[in-house]
Parts: sequence; C-alpha cells; structure tokens
Amino acid sequence: MNKVRIGSVGLGRLGLRHAENIANKIQNAELAALCDINEAALREQSARLGVKNYYTDFNAMIANKDIDAVFIVSPSALHTGQIAAALDAGKHVFSEKPLGTTIEECKNAEKAVMAHKDKVFMLGFMRRFDESYRYAYKKVMAGEIGKPVLFRAYSQDPEKFIEGAIAFAPHSGGEFIDMCVHDIDLARWFTGSEPQSVYAIGGCYAHPEFGKYADGDNVCALMKFKNNCMVFLFAGRTAPHGYNVETEIIGTKGILRIASVPQKNLVEVLDSGGVRRECHENFLERFENAYVLEAQQFVDCIREGRKSEVTVQDGVRVLEIAGKCKQAFETGELLKF
Ligand SMILES: NC(=O)c1ccc[n+]([C@@H]2O[C@H](COP(=O)([O-])OP(=O)(O)OC[C@H]3O[C@@H](n4cnc5c(N)ncnc54)[C@H](O)[C@@H]3O)[C@@H](O)[C@H]2O)c1
Repeated sequence: MNKVRIGSVGLGRLGLRHAENIANKIQNAELAALCDINEAALREQSARLGVKNYYTDFNAMIANKDIDAVFIVSPSALHTGQIAAALDAGKHVFSEKPLGTTIEECKNAEKAVMAHKDKVFMLGFMRRFDESYRYAYKKVMAGEIGKPVLFRAYSQDPEKFIEGAIAFAPHSGGEFIDMCVHDIDLARWFTGSEPQSVYAIGGCYAHPEFGKYADGDNVCALMKFKNNCMVFLFAGRTAPHGYNVETEIIGTKGILRIASVPQKNLVEVLDSGGVRRECHENFLERFENAYVLEAQQFVDCIREGRKSEVTVQDGVRVLEIAGKCKQAFETGELLKF
C-alpha cells in the first residue's frame, strides 16, 4: 500500500491538531479529506492544509472511494454511529476517546468492529504513547517496583479554560466519562487487573453549571481492583496553575511518579514572583508527541496488517468502569462490579 489516505471529522480543539499531524508529521499518510458542520472553519482549514475534498456531511465523506481510513474527532456522542458507518463503508477507523457515552452505544461499536475484522480499529488512549508512561510501564512489567499496592492519578484541567469545559459539558458524558477514562485505561494497563468495587464523591465547588448534568467540577473515585491494588482517581476542572496530569504507582519494592510536578520544561524562571517552573497549558502541549506516536501506530498497523495496541474492548471496558464511577458518584453508594 502506498500512503494511507485519511479523512478526518471534527475540526475543534483536538481535531485540528490531529489533522495538522496527519498533514505534516505522520509518515506514509496523506490528509485526503476533512469534515465539519462548521463550514467556515472547514473551508479555512482545508485551504490552509491543502485538502481538496471537504464535506459538511460525514456520510458524504465516507462515500469517497479514495479514502482508506477515517479519524473521528467529533463530539463524543457521535463516535459510535460514525465508527459503524465508516467500517461499513470499508474504512479503517481511529476514534477519539471515549468510545461512546453509553454502554449500549459502546457495545454497538464493538459489534461493528468485530464484524469488520479485516479493518484496523484504534481508540485514542494516547497516554499509553507518552514516553514517560511507556518508560514507567516497562519498569512495572519488569517487576522493578514489586507488586502494585496503590495506583493514584490526578487529571486536572486549568480553571482558565472553564468556559470551554462548561460549553462542552452537555455532550461530554461527565467528568468520569470525559476525563477519568484516560486514568481508568492506565490503571487497567499498569495493573493488568479489573475493578471489584468503587466509591465516588465530589461536587460543584466553584461552578454550579455542571450540576445540571449530574456532574461536578471536582470528583474522585476509590476502587479496589481484583488483584487487591487500591486505585484512587481525582479529576478536576479548576486547577489554578495549568494542566496537571500526574500519576503515582506505589509498589512493594518501589514507587514511580510520573509528572508529579507538571512542569512545561526544564527552565526555572527567577523574577518578582520568586523562583518557579512553568506548567503545561493544556493537553495539546503536554501530550504533543503522544498524539503523533499514536497516529503513526494507526497508519503503521494499516500498512503492515497488524492490530492496534488499544482495542475496542478496552474502550467498552473503560466506559463500563467510568459509568459505574458516575453511578457511585450520583448515589453515594459503594458499588460492586
Ligand atoms: N485524547 C485526548 O486527550 C482528548 C482531548 C480532547 C478531546 N478529546 C476527544 O475528542 C473529541 C473532540 O473533542 P474537542 O475538544 O476537539 O471538541 P470540540 O467541541 O472542540 O470540536 C468538535 C468539532 O466537531 C464538529 N462537529 C460537531 N458535530 C459534527 C457533525 N455532526 N459532523 C461533523 N463535525 C461535527 C464541531 O463543529 C467542532 O468543530 C471528543 O470526543 C473528546 O472527548 C480527546
């Protein structure tokens, strides 16, 4: 196969970055088409990225026989319908997380993927492609920290982007489904185990708007995994200092911390505010390389006839767990899986 010709849907915060990466950074790939219902943005970005085929209708894009694969970066509630339609149209599919916003939707997507085993399907759990997470993973797998005792993860968005988070809230699925899915994926990946029980709390500490969707602006969940590992997840939308994603894995023989200070780089700034290290601004900055590496794996899998590392089953299982966390948060009860 020559270059993999990709059509990408959704040109929002992340969709534009994926489109730019495909156009400029991914080897053996071509950005062949774009789709968004925002016609002005669609025309502008198509011209900027040199894309001749652009569509306001997803079904029209996937009817184009010259496209081999589709990137789905549309709002989360549209993912599963677009996954099934693209597979039926004979395309390989990369979908952003979450797989869907309900278990039923996710199961439908799983059926669609299973019915098209000749096509590559990959879900965008890009943290698995971040070099620090990969390095830590190898150490855990090599037994260097012994048996995992506690997996602790914080995912905090900056307060300064709160307006965007409020606008996204009606179709995000809530904090557990929108944000914690990454940490749930990592907890399963690092521990090789599945949850047994969950308790969750939180609330609207600064922004009552999230209450309309039975959500909070800061939430947490404590889970017991079947291998006895304790898993603590915290997600918030009001970080004063920037974008904070940190993870700690405590084992019987050692402890690994990933980005416990979410510093942008190695520069220290000495000024009237004292001595400080600047923080990552957002997910695009923190996971810049991970987005490139995951897209490259998707293209390589298509060209080499391989399966991707992140499967549709990962997406279904993570959504089931996130849904149970949400239910525990809403009911205040300790729930069993
Ligand atoms: N992996 C990550 O780190 C990460 C980070 C951010 C977002 N995401 C996921 O990516 C997806 C997009 O998020 P975002 O922040 O870019 O959203 P966004 O709201 O910024 O952008 C969504 C885009 O989709 C377009 N759109 C809406 N309905 C459409 C339709 N029917 N057909 C075509 N286009 C349509 C909108 O016009 C908009 O341009 C979400 O599922 C989100 O969960 C993943």
